Amino acid sequence: MILVTGGAGFIGSNFVLDWFEQSGESVVNLDALTYAGNPANLASLQGNGNHALVQGDIGDAALVDSLLKIHQPRAVLNFAAESHVDRSIHAPEDFIQTNVVGTFRLLESVRAYWSGLPEPEKSAFRFLHVSTDEVYGSLSATDAPFTETNRYEPNSPYSASKAASDHLVRAYHHTYGLPVLTTNCSNNYGPLHFPEKLIPLCIHNALTGKALPIYGDGQQVRDWLYVRDHCSAIRRVLEAGRLGEVYNVGGWNEKANLDVVRTLCSVLDEMSPRADGKPYAEQITYVKDRPGHDRRYAIDASKIERELGWKPAETFETGIRKTVRWYLDNTAWVEGVTSGAYKNWTAKQYD
Ligand code: NAD
Ligand code: DAU
Repeated sequence: MILVTGGAGFIGSNFVLDWFEQSGESVVNLDALTYAGNPANLASLQGNGNHALVQGDIGDAALVDSLLKIHQPRAVLNFAAESHVDRSIHAPEDFIQTNVVGTFRLLESVRAYWSGLPEPEKSAFRFLHVSTDEVYGSLSATDAPFTETNRYEPNSPYSASKAASDHLVRAYHHTYGLPVLTTNCSNNYGPLHFPEKLIPLCIHNALTGKALPIYGDGQQVRDWLYVRDHCSAIRRVLEAGRLGEVYNVGGWNEKANLDVVRTLCSVLDEMSPRADGKPYAEQITYVKDRPGHDRRYAIDASKIERELGWKPAETFETGIRKTVRWYLDNTAWVEGVTSGAYKNWTAKQYD
């Protein structure tokens, strides 16, 4: 079996759902169920005896030690994190606690468990750390995309905390020989994405008649990857990645934010036209820029393609249509996550 952390969040829950579509191997899913973690993401696994969701913190050593002892996983995949850049600007401390201290404590528990494993389980064990392209900082319009050897230059409390966690993972391999793998991925989008991030926020706001907030001039560039493509990359790295190596994962899909939102608007115009017949693009509104806003991210994903044969299956055009369709078909999920505390966040960030 495998132990997944943060498997009730956006990417983690897509990963767990994808895992059970590909394999019958059991998953223990450790998630603190913060505002971003949602058991409803895993509703289709109810009654599946091979999946267990455990509410708890990756930094709770007693809990993690006991899960490792009881379940004896062959791998631990760490998705758990505080993940939203804007929240890291308002309240960085949670990011240090989970992304830095939590990852450190998790590594300590995993190291103790792995050290005590007999062969051949010890050699076969893997710790896979899911990280971000934001650790490499910001590119200018003419810079080459990030490769795995780019210097770390994190610019936000979020990316700095992820960079720290990546360094700890690297150090546990070099110092203790822990068999680690790290993936640094670009911006994901798709089903089950919490509507604080650009794409799900704009779908939700468009359909509820609210403004579509564009930070600054909207010309910041991100490299978009459909979430299930990220999941297949992680499975491939787990299966065949070289120990201690880092793999950049991206969609070869650079887009300016304004173009992303305009595309969303035209897909919505077609799939769910406004009652007044006007285009959703009329709701686009320019708002104050994010402090320290990184201008451009772009991933060079040639290493994972060359070494492991992984390539994304979706284009932005196919992925965005699937995503909009999912949000239109899952209004109850959206209502569930946008009541209560969500309103406090949007008031703080946008009003
Ligand atoms: P998310 O915020 O949707 O989910 C994070 C999950 O971690 C939630 O279920 C939350 O409850 C859980 N969690 C938070 N603190 C925890 C703790 N202390 N212990 C246990 N669980 C805890 O995030 P996401 O977008 O799914 O991102 C998952 C991982 O992928 C993160 O490590 C993130 O840095 C990385 N990543 C995200 C993207 C992206 O575009 N979303 C891109 C590249 C990498
Ligand atoms: O690059 C990978 C990263 O992508 C992940 O590590 C992060 O966890 C994930 O949140 C994401 O970070 P971004 O900051 O790029 O994503 P976000 O959706 O918050 O913003 C995407 C772009 O859109 C960014 O340039 C900021 C802009 N934006 C965002 C919001 C929420 C807006 O213009 N308006 C908004 O309301």
